[in-house]
Amino acid sequence: MSKIGGVLIELEEVDSTNLYAERMLSKGTVEEGTVILAKYQTAGKGQGKNRWESLPGQNLTFSIVLHPRFLEPGQQFHLNKAISLGILDFLSGYIDGAAIKWPNDIMVDSKKIGGILIQHVVEGEILETTIVGIGININQTKFDHQLTHAASMFQILHQELKLKEALGLLCKAIDGRYSQLRGKEEKTLEADFCDALLGFREERIFLVDGEEVPGIIRGVDEFGRLLVEHPGNDVKVYAHKEIQYIMGS
Ligand code: BTN
Repeated sequence: MSKIGGVLIELEEVDSTNLYAERMLSKGTVEEGTVILAKYQTAGKGQGKNRWESLPGQNLTFSIVLHPRFLEPGQQFHLNKAISLGILDFLSGYIDGAAIKWPNDIMVDSKKIGGILIQHVVEGEILETTIVGIGININQTKFDHQLTHAASMFQILHQELKLKEALGLLCKAIDGRYSQLRGKEEKTLEADFCDALLGFREERIFLVDGEEVPGIIRGVDEFGRLLVEHPGNDVKVYAHKEIQYIMGS
């Protein structure tokens, strides 16, 4: 079984490591666990139509190619759980209180220090390939004024990290969680993911259809949709973008 990071491709500059992975896959097979690391992305992709901005050589921006053929296409969200928990495991070596803002923003003290962009390639009934794009803000000290919720590990720790060392530890942590997934330890992943969810079992205010509504996160369903209990024991199921956290509520 290949280890995550067993093959490492290092690039000075690329449009996006996810796009680079897509191009590699279109040309032939790519070994599971291959990591594509870029010092700088000229067109880093974020969730939806967002861009992922990261100053050259200051942060980790990379993609991992996986072949999770042991999962059914309907179980895709298990990967989100394993990857985000791997990132939290890595962070726990440095920082207390990191959390996952559903579905997979990596937060510390209400600030986003990392993001994940997962793309799947389904062939028939098989989850043939998954490209996991990860951006973790490591040493950057200033962010664009529009990115008011962004932060880096440096801003929390007041200490620079060596990027390659951090990458090694991060890949090892993700590898541990991916092994749990391969070993069908879904219950553990599920429980750990819920425990790491920002606002799990807490009363909070959410934004739904432009309205502020109180609710308590009770977990996620098998497709990764958020389960929120509203007053009157009314548990609703929300897909991505149907509900938003109100930070600080
Ligand atoms: C998000 O919006 O939260 C997801 C951000 C994902 C960014 C990473 S950086 C490496 C990889 N390549 C990309 O173009 N995006 C992902």
